[in-house]
Amino acid sequence: MWHRKDLLGLEGLTRPELETILDRAERLKDILAQPEKKRTTLRGRSVLTLFFEASTRTRTSFEMAGKFLSADLTSISPSTSSAQKGETLLDTARNLEAMGFDLVVMRHQFSGAPQFLAERLAAHVINAGDGLHEHPTQGLLDMMTIREKKGRLDGLQVAIIGDIAHSRVARSDLWGLRAMGAQVRLAGPATMLPDDLSAFGVDTFTRPEEALEGADVVMMLRVQLERQQRGLFPTPHEYSRFWGLTPERLRLAKPDALVMHPGPLNRGLEIPTEVADGDQSVILEQVTNGVAVRMACLTLLLGVDDK
Ligand code: CP
Repeated sequence: MWHRKDLLGLEGLTRPELETILDRAERLKDILAQPEKKRTTLRGRSVLTLFFEASTRTRTSFEMAGKFLSADLTSISPSTSSAQKGETLLDTARNLEAMGFDLVVMRHQFSGAPQFLAERLAAHVINAGDGLHEHPTQGLLDMMTIREKKGRLDGLQVAIIGDIAHSRVARSDLWGLRAMGAQVRLAGPATMLPDDLSAFGVDTFTRPEEALEGADVVMMLRVQLERQQRGLFPTPHEYSRFWGLTPERLRLAKPDALVMHPGPLNRGLEIPTEVADGDQSVILEQVTNGVAVRMACLTLLLGVDDK
């Protein structure tokens, strides 16, 4: 069962809690296969999406999830809100809560911003990605996709490769997968690995080949080009040569290994087109499962049955 007010991260969630979300998402996914997708599950509940950073997949899938379940949805963009006039995040959120929102889905560039609001608002808060901290619904949709394809998470070897230091996806995947019994390997250039890796308690490599050997799942991370001015790698060509998931490198993993990526893709950089669109890729299935996971999270936090 689910007893938490908010979903701020996967760190600290128990296996039964994660299974509750994943099981519910699996059931709700059936809605997506129906010609008539509208349900009344969240009728009368109001949901606000508040995204201070760009998003295609997360924002749209939260909005689709809410609409399929008949929630009343409102979206705010900081560029057209009074945040432009200097209104603080807390004032913005308190004013919006005064209008009666039951749940706020929030993405913010600062780690901890969703927690800051969650501690001060009566409304439920879902973290849709905060700084370098976590992106819990991405971790959940990744787990759902792996479980769907492999039938389990327990004992699987999952290689997460790329810019680990700046990846909130890597953190959520790591906490969630470990709680579900998977073995996680992290690999990235030394400039893209966190300083204190001992906190993660996982195998870490500075060559992709070592992490790929015998892996069941390969999760490639987006190179965050917006951080490249810090000189984290010499050139894009060098990065793709030494870290890109070429077909040859992919052959080091198990023959039926899943290829995953949270998106958006830098085609030709961390992943070439033939692998991104190849037989082993489940990247678009991750996106579909994102809608199901978000339906599950909305209903669980709002304390509504998934009927
Ligand atoms: N995976 C992900 O968070 O994508 P968006 O930035 O498009 O939401």
